[in-house]
Amino acid sequence: MKESILKSKLSKSAIKIGAGSPTDAGLGFRGNTNHPDPIQLSGGIPDEPSLPVTDFTEMLISASKQETEGSYNYGGWFGYDGLREHLAKRQSVFDNKKLKLNNFIIHNGSSGALENICRTLLDPNDVVIVEKPSYSGTVRAIRGFNCEVVEVDMDTNGINISQLELEISKIKNSGKTIKFIYTIPDFHNPTGYLTSDEVKIKLCEIAQQEDIFIVEDATYSELYFDSTQPAPLYSFDKNDRVIKMGTFSKIISTGIRVGWIQAHEDLIQAFSQTRFDMGNSPLIQRALSLYMSKDLLDHHVDIVRNIYKNKMETLTSSLIENCEPYVEFYKPRGGFFLWVKIKGVTNKELTSEASNDGVMFPSGSLFYADRDENTWTSHVRMAYSRSSIDQIKEATRRLKQTFLRIVD
Ligand SMILES: Cc1ncc(COP(=O)(O)O)c(C=O)c1O
Repeated sequence: MKESILKSKLSKSAIKIGAGSPTDAGLGFRGNTNHPDPIQLSGGIPDEPSLPVTDFTEMLISASKQETEGSYNYGGWFGYDGLREHLAKRQSVFDNKKLKLNNFIIHNGSSGALENICRTLLDPNDVVIVEKPSYSGTVRAIRGFNCEVVEVDMDTNGINISQLELEISKIKNSGKTIKFIYTIPDFHNPTGYLTSDEVKIKLCEIAQQEDIFIVEDATYSELYFDSTQPAPLYSFDKNDRVIKMGTFSKIISTGIRVGWIQAHEDLIQAFSQTRFDMGNSPLIQRALSLYMSKDLLDHHVDIVRNIYKNKMETLTSSLIENCEPYVEFYKPRGGFFLWVKIKGVTNKELTSEASNDGVMFPSGSLFYADRDENTWTSHVRMAYSRSSIDQIKEATRRLKQTFLRIVD
């Protein structure tokens, strides 16, 4: 179709987020290469050999045969009560709260959850505050609602609280409305940083004082490498200000497409009233519920935590061994990502040259709201979750050659 025809029909918000023009839409940074054996350090994808295929297939068969009627019909806006019950029980422990099934609505991953939150809370020209840098999918989704995204710097302890307070008063003085702060407190994408308890507590206080919500994206929260899980942001909230999003994407598989929102039941009710997708697969939700009822989920997450910890250790030690003069990073305490500061070369040049050498990873500029590749030149994001230990080692050996060729 002619671009001019397409553009004349697309909504303003669709055009604002890049529809109708060449856009990565989550795919571009996987990049192009002619290398015969490329190694992907790109997306946040779980380790393939450890996927619980046999167990989950069994649960699918049971759900299909033993709960046929429920599994093969529309499941309603809130999702399957059995799964909501399991989530309530499990999250009550993590968040140290007495949660009930009414505190949960099931969604098409945390992406579906975010879209539902945005549809319910945002008016055009509202402001959403995000960490700088942040997950590009969220920034796109918010923009799709014709809202403004304001970034606040973060460091290894999380969002910069004094800058946040300053931005909030600037935005309020300009007459605009801040609806929520979106944060990824645990093992952030792209930085891997863990927000400290002090910052989590302060965030909850600010939300209450300033009358705004916090959307806690807990996509990676269960994938901690220390012996215990860090206290979730939700656990510090005394005033129903935190809306938490969770997902099975990283702890089981991205193809399951099941996530959830956890919040005060009045909010959950409102979320259910603005969704028009007829809910998501009752069959998969029943299989997940069976999977949880047999304690298979906790067992699986224990296993994969170790796998990701080993991969993170391998990537960080191999980078030191092979690329030390050119890289600097903070070792993540969980999650899938290493945020690497590079020296002597821009991220644009490095990602392009490295992909020729068969190592693919995104430039850090993609995680800033303006995506300006001439401003955000210093970082790249490497995901260690998907590639094998051997591939990770080989990737750093290839990268050494890339650095030697372009820097020295
Ligand atoms: C921080 C963050 N939030 C949400 C998502 C989307 O996850 P889901 O598959 O649950 O939609 C991702 C995926 O990479 C992510 O990194």
